[in-house]
Amino acid sequence: MHEQQTAEKRRVGEKAAELVEDGMIVGLGTGSTAYWFIKKLAERVAGGLRITGVATSVRTAELAESLGIRVVDVNEVGEVDLTVDGADEIDDHFNAIKGGGGALLREKIVASISRRMVVIVDSTKRVERLGRFPLPVEMVPFGYKHTLRKLEQAGCAPRLREKDGAPFVTDGGHYIVDLHLGRIDDPERLAGSIGNMPGVVEHGLFIGLVTDVLIAEDGEVRMMKRA
Ligand code: A5P
Repeated sequence: MHEQQTAEKRRVGEKAAELVEDGMIVGLGTGSTAYWFIKKLAERVAGGLRITGVATSVRTAELAESLGIRVVDVNEVGEVDLTVDGADEIDDHFNAIKGGGGALLREKIVASISRRMVVIVDSTKRVERLGRFPLPVEMVPFGYKHTLRKLEQAGCAPRLREKDGAPFVTDGGHYIVDLHLGRIDDPERLAGSIGNMPGVVEHGLFIGLVTDVLIAEDGEVRMMKRA
């Protein structure tokens, strides 16, 4: 990864930790940007901040706990006060593509019960139109070749994600296909059609979930709020 991109991820991640207040239930995102948020948050916890974390992946739960953040099962909370998570792409309407790290299902569940969802991104993630980043879709292994074929027939150019020569398996035991769409003209419509396919568990289009964006631009961290 480019040095500047890493520095930007760190800057937005650490800045986001300032948004957390005492007593909050906090959604902990997944990925290399959320990593910096969790690290900084852990420092604040070590300094006396009391919060409860809800993790969006097994690796985030492990990281947070190893740093001294208390993490509870998502079923133990009514709602989440604030979730901070990365994204693969974000447009000016606050629609995002997530799931590059394969955690999209848990990320979306946590986002959907969050009063506030802050996406933290480096400057490369902001796009005019979503879709250059391949859209991750999580699907059940049963009959996955048929689901793949349906996606292919729908013109979605799916590619099964692999790791070490075998299908990549998510925390939920599912597979991921990445849709090489190039550009997405109508995210809502696409979300509806993919979401209705048998075998599809969830897709990485986050529409209407993101409330704030913290972005590193021109050496500064800019906060954008959804109207
Ligand atoms: C994890 O599945 C993803 O949704 C990440 O939040 C997203 O891929 C951003 O990751 P980075 O912060 O590592 O770029």
